[in-house]
Amino acid sequence: MSVSRNHGRQTLRPVLLVNIGQLLTLRSSAETVGPRRGGALSELGIVEDAAVLCMGGKIVSVGKTKDALRDPWIKKNRKKILEIDCAEQVVLPGFVDSHTHPAFINPRLVDFEKRTAGATYEQIAEAGGGIHSSVEPVRKAGKSLLAENVLDALHEMAEQGTTTVEAKSGYGLTVESELKSLEAIRQAASQWPGTVVATLLGAHVVPKGFKGRSQNYVESVCKEMVPQVARRKLAQFVDVFCDRGAFSEDDTRRIFEAATQHGLSVRAHVGQLSETPLERLLSLHPASLDHMDHVSNKDISRLAEQDTIATFVPGANYFLGSNKYPAARQFIDAGVPVALATDYNPGSSPTASMPFIMSLACTQMKMSPAEAVAAATINGAWALRQQDRKGSIEPGKDADLAAFEVEDYREIPYWFASNRCTFAVLNGVLVGSGGSGELA
Ligand code: NIG
Ligand code: FE
Repeated sequence: MSVSRNHGRQTLRPVLLVNIGQLLTLRSSAETVGPRRGGALSELGIVEDAAVLCMGGKIVSVGKTKDALRDPWIKKNRKKILEIDCAEQVVLPGFVDSHTHPAFINPRLVDFEKRTAGATYEQIAEAGGGIHSSVEPVRKAGKSLLAENVLDALHEMAEQGTTTVEAKSGYGLTVESELKSLEAIRQAASQWPGTVVATLLGAHVVPKGFKGRSQNYVESVCKEMVPQVARRKLAQFVDVFCDRGAFSEDDTRRIFEAATQHGLSVRAHVGQLSETPLERLLSLHPASLDHMDHVSNKDISRLAEQDTIATFVPGANYFLGSNKYPAARQFIDAGVPVALATDYNPGSSPTASMPFIMSLACTQMKMSPAEAVAAATINGAWALRQQDRKGSIEPGKDADLAAFEVEDYREIPYWFASNRCTFAVLNGVLVGSGGSGELA
């Protein structure tokens, strides 16, 4: 069974999933307070022969199938309920993809081809490719075309089990086109049943017109973009690419401070191309710091003391042809809470697939399949500060689930580049072809 692109959407009838072979609840326990660290990353809270009842977009109960089928309320209301026989499939919390850049127009095929001939990410950027080459098309595009592209990406993500997506602007780099990108994200989000968390990434790279005047651009981010985005409630987060060739630590602090003053939370791209010192950034409590390819031992210890999530995006390492991946074992063993995300974008990671990212985490970063699941669900939720609503299957949380046609959850990262997701429930809305054809 595969999920078709033109999936049918159900109205918000109660949804009852039964005969789940393995239900990965990721439920919290006394040992799993706060974001998952160390051994707690492997606690998946598995229930076999499980059932889940969802109503009004929320999870209402979680237990064994035999108990659900005996429940008086379920027995009485069986006709009203959309019941899905999961036929022993694996069900887990919908993935939380906490780092994506979907507001772009074109794939960057010239960059891709140049890299096959040996050019690096930075050489391509210096030659006029890279992020800069995505800017003009976004500036010229209408909002609806951008929104269409974002919506296509959201659908493709849901087809692979993702139910919550962080979506960044960052290819407009003017006040007007960054606002347009965030409006496009909002428009797409309104047409998708899942949850979208928007992020202003005005500080993605210094735009060409500001060469030698980067401070003027930082000023515009702080004094124009951030206040307008906050006033119009177009984003919850502000992100900065803080790395060699992009923005400095001082620029990032200025932007973080402006964001905080305007009530927006902060996150950053760090340590992708060179080591970004983290101490001063950590004092401003970012929800997440992402990439983390180059990080000092001291900064790993600092991260272990905070709730800032270290988000790995190994799709970028893979696609840029690197044989170096983030030192996940060192982070996990030190007690840093880690998450995994796709970094979906046209330059360094054109994939919408969280299962593929989990596979990379297992094969290239030596994370266990259980750690990869927790990093792609509950810790992704923490990275977006959505942990009270997302990332685990527990009564009261949003009804976000994904079903996979496998017998054992370890098969999800095992069958790489193969989509085994059969359906997802996004805020109580079923998307895809579920179970054994019981769908109304
Ligand atoms: O996360 N590092 C900065 N931003 C993206 C790349 C964006 C692009 O190349 O278009 C990243 O890898
Ligand atoms: Fe990114």
